Amino acid sequence: MSAALLAPEADDDRPLLTVSGLTKYYGERPGCLDVGFDLHPGEVLAIVGESGSGKSTLLSLLACRLAPTRGTIRYRMRNGAMRDVMSLTEAERRLLMRTDWGFVHQDAAQGLRMRVSAGANVGERLMALGQRHYGDIRAQAKDWLQRVEIDTDRIDDPPRSFSGGMRQRLQIARNLVTAPRLVLMDEPTGGLDVSVQARLLDLLRGLVADLGLAVVIVTHDLAVARLVSHRLMVMRQGSVIETGLTDQVLDDPREPYTQLLVSSVLQV
Ligand SMILES: Nc1ncnc2c1ncn2[C@@H]1O[C@H](COP(=O)(O)OP(=O)(O)OP(=O)(O)O)[C@@H](O)[C@H]1O
Ligand SMILES: [Mg+2]
Repeated sequence: MSAALLAPEADDDRPLLTVSGLTKYYGERPGCLDVGFDLHPGEVLAIVGESGSGKSTLLSLLACRLAPTRGTIRYRMRNGAMRDVMSLTEAERRLLMRTDWGFVHQDAAQGLRMRVSAGANVGERLMALGQRHYGDIRAQAKDWLQRVEIDTDRIDDPPRSFSGGMRQRLQIARNLVTAPRLVLMDEPTGGLDVSVQARLLDLLRGLVADLGLAVVIVTHDLAVARLVSHRLMVMRQGSVIETGLTDQVLDDPREPYTQLLVSSVLQV
């Protein structure tokens, strides 16, 4: 077999994202301490831990919304080159964020433009990729509204006229329309009631599997982590205290703190 045919497989063994020694201090207070992990294409990593344990700090660092005190984040670009994300030019980084990466906020209003139409919210990311044909963009926006189960006759309505669950689905459509390879999510089902949450998680799980997305998802909900993630990282006071395959960690937690987290959920 030729080397060219072997190349894609060899490629897939390499991580998409390699994080090491990632540390953030807010003044004297640690936000996150010496966090490291690899993430492979198609892999879903959940980050769990109590309030204030550093989950959002870590996600903000990964998304380059926050500058680390130290540590590195390396990302495999579409051309195969591993790049230090912090050494990208501002223009390169912005393009990455708008196309190859997605970020789903807990509060959909932060991830959407609330006053422009749902269709424009989805189409905007395609335009960032250089698409200019109005008909094509609208067709893709429609297709994505369908995929996230939003009635296509709402395409011209602004998200501020949508329910919480619809907004969150629109935010997901907006992020996934560019076929990103990495999606970061901060409590994507946090503010929703339980039945809406279950449907959204189902949808998310299907999309992630279909598209082979790599995902880092922050949640305080172990049931959400169990449902969507392959691997789990437990944080406490800024540090990762336990990590492993999700089912293993939840079924047989090693650290007393993780045992407490798991048992406190079961008691509810
Ligand atoms: N902008 C900030 N300035 C100062 N300290 C901060 C800031 N943001 C977070 N921190 C501190 O960093 C630590 C980690 O906070 P972080 O928001 O990452 O926690 P979290 O795990 O996301 O919590 P939650 O589940 O409540 O969202 C906390 O001690 C917090 O007080
Ligand atoms: Mg948080």
